[in-house]
Amino acid sequence: MAAPAEQVAAEIENLKVNGGAAGGGVQEDEEDRVTPWEVTTTKATGIDYDKLIVKFGCRKLDEEIIARFERVTGHKASPMLRRGMFFAHRDLTAILDRKEQGKPFYLYTGRGASSGSLHLGHLVPFIFTKWLQEVFDVPLVIQMTDDEKFLWKDMKVDEAKKMARENMKDIISVGFDPTKTFIFNNFDYMCPPFYENIVKIWKVVNTNQARAIFGFTPEDCLGKAAFPAVEAAPCFASSFPQIFGKRNDIPCLIPCAIDQDPFFRMTRDVAPRLKASKPSLIFSTFLPALTGAQTKMSASEPNTCIFLSDTAKQIKNKINKYAFSGGQQTVQEHREKGGNCDVDISYQFLRFFLDDDEKLAEIRENYTKGEMLSGELKALATQKVQEIVLEMQERRKLVTDETVEEFVKVRPLAYKY
Ligand code: TRP
Repeated sequence: MAAPAEQVAAEIENLKVNGGAAGGGVQEDEEDRVTPWEVTTTKATGIDYDKLIVKFGCRKLDEEIIARFERVTGHKASPMLRRGMFFAHRDLTAILDRKEQGKPFYLYTGRGASSGSLHLGHLVPFIFTKWLQEVFDVPLVIQMTDDEKFLWKDMKVDEAKKMARENMKDIISVGFDPTKTFIFNNFDYMCPPFYENIVKIWKVVNTNQARAIFGFTPEDCLGKAAFPAVEAAPCFASSFPQIFGKRNDIPCLIPCAIDQDPFFRMTRDVAPRLKASKPSLIFSTFLPALTGAQTKMSASEPNTCIFLSDTAKQIKNKINKYAFSGGQQTVQEHREKGGNCDVDISYQFLRFFLDDDEKLAEIRENYTKGEMLSGELKALATQKVQEIVLEMQERRKLVTDETVEEFVKVRPLAYKY
């Protein structure tokens, strides 16, 4: 199904308006700054996501589309979906139509490894992607952008490849099905069909457009300007002939954090000129940093971050020491005025990871009323985070180099086209 005209108009408009962004930003105002390489705001409640929807020209994931999702898939929406961690989309309806009609599509997501271990924030899209794979039962391709990290960070090619490989083990530990999942790193997968798509994309996006969308400056190296096509190409089924054969009419759905949108706004713009399907997207908010929702959790700032390699004790210490609290200064004041869940990071972690709706509502009520103290809330968040990290660590112990080989092998998946 074609996108509604006004949505297409908004997307084209967006490709243009960003050209004026000062300082090479993709989307910014005085308060919020969201680009693929930077996410900051001045507000303790975090990014204003409603505003972002308007600026980026995407759609809100409202109750109506969630209800349709449930009807079409026969699955109750996951907590991340019904609590608004995934909050916006582009053309999700087109994917639901295909699901209803039994037409093929696939899932595409990715990860640029800039640390040896994933952190909790990275886990969010992958947990959700795993759930989508189970619900939709379709192929999943996962791109590891070791080339992107080589270009943007102070890193040697071998280091970037090694980190991608380590991160693959974390990703595999989320529990993806090897018969339905292909994981690749760009340096190693660069095969002719993939490269042909990249070059085709290069041909139809000019330098002004790339600068407008991504905020590149004349001083940026050529590689940075060239990279977006590499993240765009996996949106086209023809990049994976081993999975999709000769077909180029199979669209994908991309679960990702909203900061990746510029890549796919560009892709959606070029797809018709390449006679390929436009990707659909489903966007998540950011897991806030421990220190407060002004920034997202970031591996380069260890104090903002809980790594999947952290011990139970480290997790406890980090939450106690750094997790920004929405509580009051003294116990007496807290009992009187109550705490503020909207800025409280321990509460925000529970919102992302505690599946039990009733328990979460109860915590919110008790904390807001001042019946629950910050220390108690921190203890609950610590327990939940420790549990998730420990489960990941247990599964990761079982992931060997042979397991990785199974996922990266260029091969057909469990579907016929
Ligand atoms: N650029 C992303 C990062 O730095 C990695 C990535 C590649 C990606 N392809 C993707 C993320 C598709 C989401 C969806 O992490």
